Amino acid sequence: MFALNFNNTTMHIFYGKVALIAYLKTIKTENSSVGFVPTMGALHQGHLALMQRSLNENDNTVVSIFVNPTQFNNQEDLAKYPRTLDEDVRKMCDLSDEIILYAPTVEDIYEGHTVSQSFDFDGLENQMEGKFRPGHFNGVGTIVKRLFEIITPTNAYFGEKDFQQLQIVKKMVEKNHLPVNVVGCPIFREPNQLAMSSRNERLNNDERQEAAIIYKILTEAKEIFQTKSPEETIEFVENSFKNNDKFELEYFVIADESTLLPIDHKSKDKNYRAFIAVFVNSIRLIDTISLN
Ligand code: PAF
Repeated sequence: MFALNFNNTTMHIFYGKVALIAYLKTIKTENSSVGFVPTMGALHQGHLALMQRSLNENDNTVVSIFVNPTQFNNQEDLAKYPRTLDEDVRKMCDLSDEIILYAPTVEDIYEGHTVSQSFDFDGLENQMEGKFRPGHFNGVGTIVKRLFEIITPTNAYFGEKDFQQLQIVKKMVEKNHLPVNVVGCPIFREPNQLAMSSRNERLNNDERQEAAIIYKILTEAKEIFQTKSPEETIEFVENSFKNNDKFELEYFVIADESTLLPIDHKSKDKNYRAFIAVFVNSIRLIDTISLN
């Protein structure tokens, strides 16, 4: 364990699971709760909001920072993923002196065998992110399951920006009978409504401002969906990006919120959600909006 002093705040940082597990044993009591916020670092307001919620709702809060290699299907994306541990620690110290940080090495997690386990998420993994990033959700399932086993949290907090990930983690918990409550939290947006993401760090100032177009088109699509068919709504979004030479649409999908299956018609009693992935140069941004 490493106790870091910053602005008179002491933070407990663990780089290895053995010491973390031993420490958690000393602070957990029969009825105490542990909240957990898994992250890949490069923390932004959205992450800090998840941590604040965990601090409010639990006796102890553990945050992990780990850029998980097995969930990247693109090696360039993995290499360029922002790694800002010192800055992240400063942000967490500003938020609270009660956060326990687990920042493991790849060896500590994978023990010399950096591969994913194979999961069956009942088809949730086959659409959108799963379709365009082969193997991504096996990597996410592997790391989240491992972190849950190490930390044994009572509640775990995930942002709704990665809505498909949230549904997949819930499915993994259900299928493996893991005793953890998975809590989905609203998307945090920048002042121009761009969904907060660690990848936004890689955008230059112009790109970051212009990326407001993603949410603008999503809200227009939501409006159109109220009176038009899914096909017409998709056509509107595809045409909106066709004449834009800065932003390249990878996918826009309207899906049933519970099965994540794309729809071709609307039914009254269903909840729908739109999902989008867009490239700005080589930087990939995703967003989502509820259509009901
Ligand atoms: O959403 C993320 O940042 C990652 O996918 C997660 C959940 C921390 C697993 O690596």
